[in-house]
Amino acid sequence: MFDHDVLIIGAGLAGMRAALSAVEAGADVAVVSKVHPVRSHSNAAQGGINAALTDRGDDWREHAYDTIKGSDYLGDQDAISIMCQEAGSEVISMEHMGVIFNRDEEGRLGTRAFGGQRQARTFFVSDFTGQALLHVLYEQVMKAGVRIYEEWFLLSLIVEDGECAGAVIMEIRSGEIHVVRSKTVIMASGGLGRVFEPSTNALICTGDGMSAAYQVGASLMDMEMVQYHPTTLKGSGVLITEGARGEGAYLLNSEGERFMERYAPNMMELASRDVVSRAEQTEINAGRGIDGCVLLDVRHLGEAVINERLSQIREIGRDFANVDLLQEPIPIRPGMHYQMGGIKTDVDGQTEVPGLYAAGEAACVSVHGGNRLGANSLLDTLVFGRRSGEHAAQVSKSKSHSGTVTDASAESDRINIQRLLDNDNSGEMFGKDSAGNG
Ligand code: FUM
Repeated sequence: MFDHDVLIIGAGLAGMRAALSAVEAGADVAVVSKVHPVRSHSNAAQGGINAALTDRGDDWREHAYDTIKGSDYLGDQDAISIMCQEAGSEVISMEHMGVIFNRDEEGRLGTRAFGGQRQARTFFVSDFTGQALLHVLYEQVMKAGVRIYEEWFLLSLIVEDGECAGAVIMEIRSGEIHVVRSKTVIMASGGLGRVFEPSTNALICTGDGMSAAYQVGASLMDMEMVQYHPTTLKGSGVLITEGARGEGAYLLNSEGERFMERYAPNMMELASRDVVSRAEQTEINAGRGIDGCVLLDVRHLGEAVINERLSQIREIGRDFANVDLLQEPIPIRPGMHYQMGGIKTDVDGQTEVPGLYAAGEAACVSVHGGNRLGANSLLDTLVFGRRSGEHAAQVSKSKSHSGTVTDASAESDRINIQRLLDNDNSGEMFGKDSAGNG
């Protein structure tokens, strides 16, 4: 049996940021990941991370306003304020840890424009920002002595006396099953994009962490809020970064028109994702698409910009669509990209199950409401990953292990029955009215 203060499920950006803050707070921390940590889906994040830095004449309130509006006013405004206020220090910390962000002409951290925002506040590393952040965080957690159970797969959470007390995990290579006990657990297992096809999500994004949390009584919130990214590659659905439109790329229909003039004449290609995706689908449905797609044209940006800032999507175009972006537009269409809903948490990552936290795409702090702004998800993972790690470390310090392990499925049955009772207003169970009619 293995024993830790804080056990983190998932080694993407939320999980590793949580691990780092928990170990810095003095906790004994372990991370379980079903893949090697740097193969986590955060690796696929391309375009950047948002932060409003005051020395650029920006203000976190402006970022919060754009985020609230982008969320179709469905996001939690207190949580959004925290995320936007803490964004600057989070980006600067990552830079200090070693992330080599692109620079502007004056040598300062450079920004690019992103959809739904009135300021260019997206910091980036070419078009592989997630990968750059992930590798640096991995170095940091290794240096800090965090234990990583690599290629181990979560089977279920352990709940003991009503509190989360660890997890049952399968070592994939051997099939051996282990109990990993802990004083707190942080679910940072990512999203569920593979429920959809096609999707920009990696094959590992299967929602198993959300499911495990639900099984022990955590609520899932806003699960109907699913984001379609406007530029996913024809066929495979591989992400073609919004950073391309941030750099000035055009969207064209089969008649060669920049059709966004019809739908968002001010923001054009940089309207928020829900608006652009709907516009594309409207064009396709109206017969102005090409083989179920529209076109993304970056040619006018020139070879230098494309090679410096969009090199990954150039390779993706060549490898997966046989198109060189320098020579011709690339066929794209809206594709499933992000689950705004997830395990309901507060701003410290606490779920309704004591001792169980969640962060990143697995969680729903409700900072994205009905539509996430591009480049706010890397920010969400870092801000709320860090906050969850700090809080879990503090709570773990005040706990000691005791009692016996309760079977998670029995606990889940108890909670489901309690849910039925709680939702039943009639005074009778199973939908009967007060006269007993079923
Ligand atoms: O298009 C992109 O680079 C995606 C970014 C995001 O979803 O935040």
